[in-house]
Amino acid sequence: MDITDKVAVVTGAAGGIGAAIAQRLLEHGAGGVLLTDLDAARLDATGKQLAEAHPGRVLARAADAASTADLTALLADAEAELGAVDLYFANAGVANGAGLDAPEAEWATALEVNVMAHVRAAKLLVPGWLERGAGYFFSTASAAGLLTQIGSPTYSVSKHGAVAFAEWLAVTYGSRGIRVSCLCPQAVETELLMAGTRSDDPVQRASARAVLDAGDLLQPLDVADRVVEALGTERFLVLPHPQVLEFYRRKGADYDRWIRGMQRYQDAVSGGA
Ligand SMILES: NC(=O)c1ccc[n+]([C@@H]2O[C@H](COP(=O)([O-])OP(=O)(O)OC[C@H]3O[C@@H](n4cnc5c(N)ncnc54)[C@H](O)[C@@H]3O)[C@@H](O)[C@H]2O)c1
Repeated sequence: MDITDKVAVVTGAAGGIGAAIAQRLLEHGAGGVLLTDLDAARLDATGKQLAEAHPGRVLARAADAASTADLTALLADAEAELGAVDLYFANAGVANGAGLDAPEAEWATALEVNVMAHVRAAKLLVPGWLERGAGYFFSTASAAGLLTQIGSPTYSVSKHGAVAFAEWLAVTYGSRGIRVSCLCPQAVETELLMAGTRSDDPVQRASARAVLDAGDLLQPLDVADRVVEALGTERFLVLPHPQVLEFYRRKGADYDRWIRGMQRYQDAVSGGA
């Protein structure tokens, strides 16, 4: 999709990958970007910074990306003030759930934010996009949605759910003009990952360490550059870390061997925890 003059909504846009995607969309000529996040203070600062650089093209609205009521209001604002919603970046995410003892509440939050937020947004957007014959749903999942997340069952399962939902959307609506991409990064230097390295919980620290030790630590703007490239080619799977494709191939080629390798990796990073 040519993003010139297009309008995008980006969730989880107060910082990290979401803010970087918003910045790159604006720099590449998007007509408007609505940034949204649960963290109103961080969103306000990021929104002001981007609005200064791109006057008249930035809106910021604090909202819960998993709430249908909030999403309905957000999409109405984007349409009223920016003219349309051509692209939706389902990027808000949470990383929680240390081990099998992860509380039910953490499972619920991970499934709500990492999966159901995508489902609810698509339910609101797809009917209008089908009428227009165009629309772009860009999901931020994770390499954990293709492989696994050492230490965190909630993150592994919910990110697999995000990949599965994006695949389903692409299969179901791709022939009717709706484009879908799924971003599956490994380590990116953001609060979500770095908070894990500072956690008091050894399982959460091992979880973050496993991601950091697996390959390069990218910056959010590097990832946003890959996102802009993928929009140009309308590629489904977006892998800013090339080794993820290699690991994914190995998993598909010999699942048991891949699990044995991951067991060794789990033992190495957790020290048996
Ligand atoms: N950082 C990494 O290494 C990495 C790797 C793979 C995937 N991801 C994914 O990238 C996405 C962006 O995360 P990030 O790394 O930029 O971290 P981040 O912490 O900077 O951004 C995540 C944002 O999501 C927001 N958020 C959480 N729950 C929300 C909700 N219910 N409604 C609206 N906003 C909510 C947070 O307030 C936060 O600003 C997430 O989906 C994450 O799982 C990150």
